[in-house]
Amino acid sequence: MTGLLIKGGTVIGPSGATFADVLVEGETIAALFAPGRAPEDTARREIDATGKYVIPGGVDVHTHMQLPFGGTSASDTFDTGTRAAAFGGTTTIVDFAVQRTGEVVADGLAAWHAKADGECHIDYGFHMILGGVDDAALAAMDQLVETEGITSFKLFMAYPGVFYSDDGQILRAMQRARDNGATIMMHAENGIAIDVLIQQALARGETDPIYHGLTRPPALEAEAVHRAIRLAEVARDCPLYIVHLSASEALEQVAAARDAGRNVFAETCPQYLYLTLEDQLGAPGFEGAKWVCSTPLRSKFEPHGRDLWRGLRTNDLAVVSTDHCPFCFKDQKELGVGDFSKIPNGIGGVEHRMDLIYQGVVDGQLSLRRWVETVATTPARMFGLYPRKGVLAPGSDADIVVYDPAGHTTIGVETHHMNMDHSAYEGTRIDGRVDTVISRGSVIVDGAGYHGRKGHGRYLRRGLSQYLM
Ligand code: URP
Ligand code: ZN
Ligand code: ZN
Ligand code: ZN
Repeated sequence: MTGLLIKGGTVIGPSGATFADVLVEGETIAALFAPGRAPEDTARREIDATGKYVIPGGVDVHTHMQLPFGGTSASDTFDTGTRAAAFGGTTTIVDFAVQRTGEVVADGLAAWHAKADGECHIDYGFHMILGGVDDAALAAMDQLVETEGITSFKLFMAYPGVFYSDDGQILRAMQRARDNGATIMMHAENGIAIDVLIQQALARGETDPIYHGLTRPPALEAEAVHRAIRLAEVARDCPLYIVHLSASEALEQVAAARDAGRNVFAETCPQYLYLTLEDQLGAPGFEGAKWVCSTPLRSKFEPHGRDLWRGLRTNDLAVVSTDHCPFCFKDQKELGVGDFSKIPNGIGGVEHRMDLIYQGVVDGQLSLRRWVETVATTPARMFGLYPRKGVLAPGSDADIVVYDPAGHTTIGVETHHMNMDHSAYEGTRIDGRVDTVISRGSVIVDGAGYHGRKGHGRYLRRGLSQYLM
């Protein structure tokens, strides 16, 4: 078989940066060589990575393609969303299949397979959202872990009447996860209290998008994170992963649990590192609807952003994922004109995570090694995909990004590939640029050229977390 050699680059891995040439044969990495030491092969394709970083393809473990929400559906399909991800250097996503309240878990999963099957440009796995925890759902958890390669379940302490689980349901699911090895992913916001604040705000005539943020205060995120941690403790230290953590006070709870040696982990998302309640959600008129997501963007007058960067350095935040859940402004976000509580929740960003977190390297917030760890290696380990994904090692899938630190791009709706009529990061200048993207041995992006195809991406059966304390 003729292979592919990526020569002259700086390979970034768990132990830092090394000069190495990466040899790909078929769909996997065959070997890493000291520069210039790979055996000659004139038939082989070569990619010159001189002056560039060679990193494992990004692993985004939090996306919502085609998610039905608030009377509409997230605007990226598995086709458009995974293609956009590829342009941004992400070669694996883990999306959330949904069991809606009252629905059979297996039916929800089958519906998600039907949406994704044959549509994806990159490899994909699923978590399962449980919209109700009863005996049947608990039995389904075991079955999904054993036979479907679904080893993580998202529960909601928010959205009463939609996805909400009460504490008893949460405890039962955690106990089950403790027994079958799965990880519980938690949307940690006190939804019952938030609903009271929403009704009070609307009664006062406070209908603009910024009230979405003001009715979801940090205290109600921190309270829910705290409660989830304590419930997981009662469930004999069931693995707990807090999704889309946004507030300093919530991070403090995670840090304390981790200091005590608990199996508590958390992710944050680029929007919480770069965007704020005042500057985006508080934009004039209805404009702020573009940035309505939950948990909400936080105040720039409080130290959330700074604390989240620190959490990424200390590993109290182990992962950066996007929570990619795009809605167009026209007709979708507009459902909430005159009532912020009717704005579909979500921000699209699957294309920009690698670039945006690389800015942390440029700004001196993160090391190169830590960049790769938070966007590829740790998510792969956390969700049972390692070492197939998340590392450049012999035997791993040849999912590789050549990243050019000397390149530049500007994010915007005119150039992005996501199916959205606006960009949450419009005009943001990026130092660095995704140069080449390889998915299981196939070059799918080179420069601006696209060579991928829908149907290339395969469903990934995942193992249990490889990231426990
Ligand atoms: O606003 C958000 N995050 N939308 C997606 C659903 C969720 O809660 O993750
Ligand atoms: Zn959520
Ligand atoms: Zn989400
Ligand atoms: Zn080309």
